[in-house]
Amino acid sequence: MLQSMWSILGAAGLAIAARPVKRLDNGLALTPPMGWNSYNHYTCVPNASIIESNAKALKDLGLADLGYYYVTTDCGWTSPYRTKAGKLTWNETMFPDGFPALGDYIHSLDLGFGVYSDSGTLMCMAGLPNQTGSLYHEETDADTFAEWGAGLLKYDNCYSSKARVQDYARSAPEWRTIWRQINQFPPSAGYAGPGQWPDLDMLEVGNNIFTEPEEQTHFSLWAIAKSPLTIGCALKDTFTTASDSSLAILKNADVIAINQDSLGKAVNLTRRYTNAQSTFGQSINGKLFLPDAGIQSAGRIKDIWNDKTATDIVTSYSQTIAAHGTLLLELADTTPAGTYKTDRCGHFTGGTITYKHVYGITDSDEYTLTVNLSGASDQKITVEVWSSASSNPQKVQASSGTTSAQITLQAGDTNTITLKTSAKVDSIEVSPPIGKFYG
Ligand SMILES: *[C@@H]1O[C@H](CO)[C@@H](O)[C@H](O)[C@H]1NC(C)=O
Ligand SMILES: *[C@@H]1O[C@H](CO)[C@@H](O)[C@H](O)[C@H]1NC(C)=O
Ligand SMILES: *[C@@H]1O[C@H](CO)[C@@H](O)[C@H](O)[C@H]1NC(C)=O
Ligand SMILES: *[C@@H]1O[C@H](CO)[C@@H](O)[C@H](O)[C@H]1NC(C)=O
Ligand SMILES: *[C@@H]1O[C@H](CO)[C@@H](O)[C@H](O)[C@H]1NC(C)=O
Repeated sequence: MLQSMWSILGAAGLAIAARPVKRLDNGLALTPPMGWNSYNHYTCVPNASIIESNAKALKDLGLADLGYYYVTTDCGWTSPYRTKAGKLTWNETMFPDGFPALGDYIHSLDLGFGVYSDSGTLMCMAGLPNQTGSLYHEETDADTFAEWGAGLLKYDNCYSSKARVQDYARSAPEWRTIWRQINQFPPSAGYAGPGQWPDLDMLEVGNNIFTEPEEQTHFSLWAIAKSPLTIGCALKDTFTTASDSSLAILKNADVIAINQDSLGKAVNLTRRYTNAQSTFGQSINGKLFLPDAGIQSAGRIKDIWNDKTATDIVTSYSQTIAAHGTLLLELADTTPAGTYKTDRCGHFTGGTITYKHVYGITDSDEYTLTVNLSGASDQKITVEVWSSASSNPQKVQASSGTTSAQITLQAGDTNTITLKTSAKVDSIEVSPPIGKFYG
């Protein structure tokens, strides 16, 4: 996968930035760009019939209707040298009708015409004839692309400095490269927003490299990171047709909707389990503790890849996860971690309210329980805390109003809290111990 930067061409042409600058407020790329690019399948040897048949397939397979729009010809489209007028021009063997005609064809399908160049002296062309890059020709090239009706530029970084000359080397698209890409993402998470998106590079879904669960994981990560979603497989050419299973992944409307959400906020890494069994190639019985993501309960969980919905979930959600697979959940009507609303989490039995699945992040006797009453009351409340580790409950007293007690919880979600009271309890709140670090 090549490292690349995307720009969207506006009427004013191309802006080159060496360090992060405020985005152009030009109304473009308000959500991450979606489309198709020739590189991942065809490398730097594109030709007109490849681009045209894939553009048509984008339309015929219903992908265009889901938002995939820009059709971009990657490296290998140019002739090695500029014209006498100093302009980039196409390889006439591969594009006999010319690049503007290719743009016209793509536009005739109501799709966007994407072009490719490089910020260095040469384009990325591993082993093929050298082709001139855009360095010192930026304005000319932006004008040329605009003349041809291009709407998107993929702008690579090969040969942009001495140190980067070798950067064009194509790394093998293996499973670990998915993690390399996603590991590089967290520092950029905060920059995502309308007009500016972290580009994790083109998708490998459909290239027969990954299993179905791996393709789901890859597509999910790109989508929630708010990366452009650029299909990189052969949708259709003389020899190849994308598989139904890969197409179903690329067409998952829920995942696309997360990526295209108008708020434009990217996810960030919350917690990493270094001993995650799924990396060892077997399916696991996954139990996701919602408090690890800052949430205690959800009125509704949509389990996207398993295509099911659960309601009134408290503390944890369990599901079998295939090797290298992903649990992608959309939660609605949530409460913050530590807050157990009585109407969702409490069970009444004559004078007692029971809260099950109370979460402990670790074994500790330093949790604080706060009881939030709906109205005034001067009653004493007896609190019993049960955990699977002890046969007898811990008993503490809480007094009137909003009251606190120190309680003991076990790690996990097997703790139960019982309140003996006839007062109306709105919610209980359980705060974890404050960690102390001894250096
Ligand atoms: C275009 O590329 C395809 C796929 O690599 C190839 O089969 C075909 O021969 C190429 N056409 C030309 C004109 O090079
Ligand atoms: C056109 O592209 C083909 C395939 O990459 C290459 O072999 C050929 O040398 C190119 N022609 C020119 C004039 O660059
Ligand atoms: C292609 O560019 C590289 C890097 O500048 C250079 O070392 C090489 O000699 C060039 N090859 C040709 C045929 O111009
Ligand atoms: C995302 O997480 C990384 C690593 O934990 C951190 O450096 C970065 O500041 C976070 N970004 C945001 C926007 O929270
Ligand atoms: C306590 O309960 C009242 C309703 O009785 C509610 O408005 C308030 O938000 C609750 N406070 C907390 C911290 O849960």
